[in-house]
Amino acid sequence: MNKITAILLAAGKSERFGYDIPKPFLLLDKKSIFRYSLEILLKSPQIDDLIFIVPKNYLDSFEGLKQEFSKPIQVIEGGLTRFESVRNAINHLANSTEKVIIHDAARPFLSSKLINNCLDSLLDNNAVSTAIPSTDTLVSIDNDTKALVFPDRSKIYRIQTPQAFDLSLLKNAIAMTVSEKNFSFTDETSLIHHYKLAKIKLIDGSEENIKITHPLDLIIAEQILKKQNQ
Ligand code: CTP
Ligand code: MG
Repeated sequence: MNKITAILLAAGKSERFGYDIPKPFLLLDKKSIFRYSLEILLKSPQIDDLIFIVPKNYLDSFEGLKQEFSKPIQVIEGGLTRFESVRNAINHLANSTEKVIIHDAARPFLSSKLINNCLDSLLDNNAVSTAIPSTDTLVSIDNDTKALVFPDRSKIYRIQTPQAFDLSLLKNAIAMTVSEKNFSFTDETSLIHHYKLAKIKLIDGSEENIKITHPLDLIIAEQILKKQNQ
């Protein structure tokens, strides 16, 4: 069987959020933030199993999680960077996994629609990411914080998760990083693009699918949840 495995990333340090509990484990209306996307991923009929990536000191806390759901869940330790966390997950995949869908646990507003659109698009592409148009004008800067390039805003998108990949492509990209000197990839799409391994297909993300990064985002998330529950 050719399986689709979900990888849910929750092993970051939440430095920008600045609280002693990492943000995926904070509560949003009485439920841990990571649980919102975990439940949606496991509900998808297309997804066969899930790898939950957590910080080392949280490994024991989630032993019970595996009994709560009918689909197999592995709880695995993350790495120092998001890339290392993804690499750890890839190293624990079953041989039968053919495709992966990767999601940030810090984005609680994942939807079945986003998952379906991502996986449907993966039938015709081998690397897919959700993305939304940028509402801000973006600028790249020089070392002196002076504006260098103003790209045309109509052509600038913000990458979100979920992202989905053919596993063989992702494994190739990861293998190529062994000799990488200036490693600054923030996600797997930038990695695949850098090595020109495939064109990344962008599909519609969602304005509501915010990433909780700063404390203000949690307040925004509470309002989004209220709106969704109306
Ligand atoms: N992540 C991870 N392992 C890492 C770094 C990040 O699994 N070593 C996860 C985070 O838990 C989060 C997602 O990747 O769900 C997106 O990363 P980000 O928003 O940058 O979270 P943090 O790295 O935790 O936050 P910060 O960069 O502010 O420290
Ligand atoms: Mg980070």
